[in-house]
Amino acid sequence: MKVDVFANDDALTTAAADLVHLSITEFAGRALGIATGATPLGLYAELGRRASAGALDTAGLSLVALDEYLGLGPSDEASFAAYVHSQVAAPLAIASERVAVLDGMGDAQQECAAFERRIRAWGGVGVQIVGIGSNGHLAFNEPGTPFDSRTHVVRLSEQTRLDNRSSFASGAVPQFALTQGIATIMEARRILLLARGASKAEAIARALTGAPDPSCPASVLQLHPDVVVLLDSAAAGALELPISA
Ligand code: PGA
Repeated sequence: MKVDVFANDDALTTAAADLVHLSITEFAGRALGIATGATPLGLYAELGRRASAGALDTAGLSLVALDEYLGLGPSDEASFAAYVHSQVAAPLAIASERVAVLDGMGDAQQECAAFERRIRAWGGVGVQIVGIGSNGHLAFNEPGTPFDSRTHVVRLSEQTRLDNRSSFASGAVPQFALTQGIATIMEARRILLLARGASKAEAIARALTGAPDPSCPASVLQLHPDVVVLLDSAAAGALELPISA
């Protein structure tokens, strides 16, 4: 695991974009794994700039997203489908047939199984971008989720619903979601974990330095052979650097 800490937000974004850019080339024929949330927005904007300048070739690239709220579809602004299309697919000029987001409106069990098949049919994920919840969640795998879980339906924790409230004008955050499982995420060839802000500091310290344990789902990343962690100094605030794992 490689951990870098940045005092400056632009430097963090540039380092993340450089790594994703290189990984897209290195893992050609595999999908790019997309995290939604506030943290990677600058990264997607930078990748979009590179694509429109012709510096990043996205021909043939597919996108696979981590999770979706149950009951929300692409026409709902708060859905992750809407996020992936507006913040990632459009700036990277990727057609909607090459974008896989779990369908929050269909039969949830069937959708979870179909999604696993779709990831495999698209060659698997090359680099997977992930964030971390303030409670240590990985995608919507909340504390206690087994490390061998596949794509499944989850009940969101109160902490997660509180953290995500600003995306919902009504303040009513769905109670359930669909998420790639921890074992599904771990099949990506490389994982890029991004975290910003003091609200993530405790979760980052537990994920990177505690023994891997389902009580902190992101701690599973210690068991992956190719993980890069990029943090701002606030998110690294509870870490004793350097990390040697
Ligand atoms: P955030 O979400 O990027 O909006 O902080 C990350 C997460 O909850 O995994």
